[in-house]
Amino acid sequence: MIRFGMVGTGRITAWVLKGAKLDPRFRAEAICSRNGASGKTFASAHEIPKVYTSLEEMVADPGIDAVYLGTPNHTHCDLAILAMKQGKHVLCEKPLASNAREVREMIDTARSSGVLLMEAMISTLNPNFLQVKRRLPEVGKIRHFFSAFCQYSSKYDLVRKIIAGESDAPVPSSLNPDCSGGALMDIGIYTLYPMVALFGKPSGIHACVTTCEVPVGTVRKTVDLQGAVLFEYDGMTAEILYSKIADSKLRTEISGEDGILSLDQIHIARQAEFIPRGIPTSGRAAGPEAVDLTVPPEADEYLCEFREFIDLLERGKKESTRNSLSTSLAVAEIMDEIRRQGGVVFPADLHIV
Ligand SMILES: NC(=O)c1ccc[n+]([C@@H]2O[C@H](COP(=O)([O-])OP(=O)(O)OC[C@H]3O[C@@H](n4cnc5c(N)ncnc54)[C@H](OP(=O)(O)O)[C@@H]3O)[C@@H](O)[C@H]2O)c1
Repeated sequence: MIRFGMVGTGRITAWVLKGAKLDPRFRAEAICSRNGASGKTFASAHEIPKVYTSLEEMVADPGIDAVYLGTPNHTHCDLAILAMKQGKHVLCEKPLASNAREVREMIDTARSSGVLLMEAMISTLNPNFLQVKRRLPEVGKIRHFFSAFCQYSSKYDLVRKIIAGESDAPVPSSLNPDCSGGALMDIGIYTLYPMVALFGKPSGIHACVTTCEVPVGTVRKTVDLQGAVLFEYDGMTAEILYSKIADSKLRTEISGEDGILSLDQIHIARQAEFIPRGIPTSGRAAGPEAVDLTVPPEADEYLCEFREFIDLLERGKKESTRNSLSTSLAVAEIMDEIRRQGGVVFPADLHIV
């Protein structure tokens, strides 16, 4: 039984709890909220015995083995380091941190503290993604990767009102540069992380980014709303497309000389297929049939990340090979470069060590 301290009472903690509880080795031992009343309400709704309002106190509790961080991006590094220095294993929401410098600091702390650190990137633990990964040799020499995650966000409606002076609400963390938010960090990462997990780090990055200025405190700061990025690899190219201001139903495709492997969506893939080479070039030819590779759905889509994390703990491992720390670091380095090209700067980037 692994006793978890959950941090943050937002909707993502509620979502992952539903999946995590399906693993009999998972126990939600405590919830940490900045607000005692929210913590108590969340604890009673999710049957969590202990409530903390300070992470320092929660990680000093010997009854907690691991911490799940479901807080905004800009808090991940400090909170994870605090927990790891107390010997707690950390499952941290994506993105692992604001930038590559922070990711390196977290990896160093995990290693020096001898604890497991894993980014809760669901896409690369999803059974349909793993199915496609296993069958990669069937497409022959890989020539192209394409992935899209474009979802119009209701938070953008709020941001528009804030910009127009029609709302005094703070800019939500997912679109707030002071919280290391923006479309790339929020959803673009779901297209990027699988690309790096499959093909490693690209040699070239060419980003085209749509931004806007949002009021943060007394100033306006640049945040990205969508992006299209081209990557160069030896003998292949890759493209990602992500947006919080428009939808897309485009599939993720891995195209090789012998066919195409594809997923219906990259965030949480629910359908996978293989199409052998020979797509018809005219309306008269039938072309090869798609072979359905779909894996039956799990009882809950978030179960996979807790199962992976607990499996690793049971085997005494300090790192996942599926969501490895080297992938997390490479992804953070690529995101730093995309933001540099798009002109998006976070306060965390200005931190002087
Ligand atoms: N895997 C997925 O499918 C998925 C989906 C959505 C989001 N996410 C990730 O989950 C994380 C949270 O995103 P979100 O949109 O849920 O964020 P959020 O609503 O802004 O914050 C989540 C919770 O974190 C706590 N919190 C807020 N600001 C904080 C601060 N400055 N310091 C410490 N705790 C703070 C709050 O709980 P208390 O008030 O109780 O302290 C809040 O309810 C992000 O990293 C995001 O990328 C993942």
